[in-house]
Amino acid sequence: MRIDHLLVKRGFFSTRQKAKEAIKRGEVFVDGRRIEKHSEDVNFSVKIEVLGEERPKGYWKLKNLNEKWSFINKSSRIIDLGSSAGGFLLYASEIAEFVLGIEYSREFEKELSKIRRENVEIIFEDAFRIDINSLRRYGRFNVILNDLTLKPEDSLKALSRFSPLVKGYALFVAKTGIDSKIPEIGWEIIAHEVSNAKKEEYFLLKIE
Ligand SMILES: C[S@@+](CC[C@H](N)C(=O)[O-])C[C@H]1O[C@@H](n2cnc3c(N)ncnc32)[C@H](O)[C@@H]1O
Repeated sequence: MRIDHLLVKRGFFSTRQKAKEAIKRGEVFVDGRRIEKHSEDVNFSVKIEVLGEERPKGYWKLKNLNEKWSFINKSSRIIDLGSSAGGFLLYASEIAEFVLGIEYSREFEKELSKIRRENVEIIFEDAFRIDINSLRRYGRFNVILNDLTLKPEDSLKALSRFSPLVKGYALFVAKTGIDSKIPEIGWEIIAHEVSNAKKEEYFLLKIE
């Protein structure tokens, strides 16, 4: 049986895609040997070991970017716009002092409620409607993560709404797959990376 199928069948991962990604990261071992190809045929009764737990995709995306750009640390106080299934939120909460997630879709309530940590709060509201001043009760923030599934120009508008609460960095994920250009960014760009595969561009901005 193909190893990616077997990993799902045995309950290590919920989807084959997630199993494939873990194999790509070198986290899957069969009878002590690291698996390199997700299509490899293995015996049904092999001993399987998986390093690490299954995490939402965003977890790895943010981990990767933070390992390169080091903008999240233990004193970070973070706003996560568009928390979705909680990938960014989960990674950020493993490191940062506090993470406030903002998500308008109740579809993710169940998934997000699993991330019960003392340093995490989640608000279900629209980033364009939420009363920004009401968030002042959380104190100052020094990082904002913006991975909203919107046209880059609209996503930047959301970022502008929250910027009075933040002094530090913004990670802006521009969705280039959505038929829209990236407009002029009004903040200093500290770092920039293009992911053609994901149809995204990542900008690390300085917010003052
Ligand atoms: C690409 S997902 C974010 C993935 C997330 N960073 C992760 O790591 O799992 C974008 C999310 O933004 C949310 N979103 C889009 N527009 C929003 C808005 N106006 N207010 C709040 N959330 C919004 C969507 O519901 C979606 O869950």
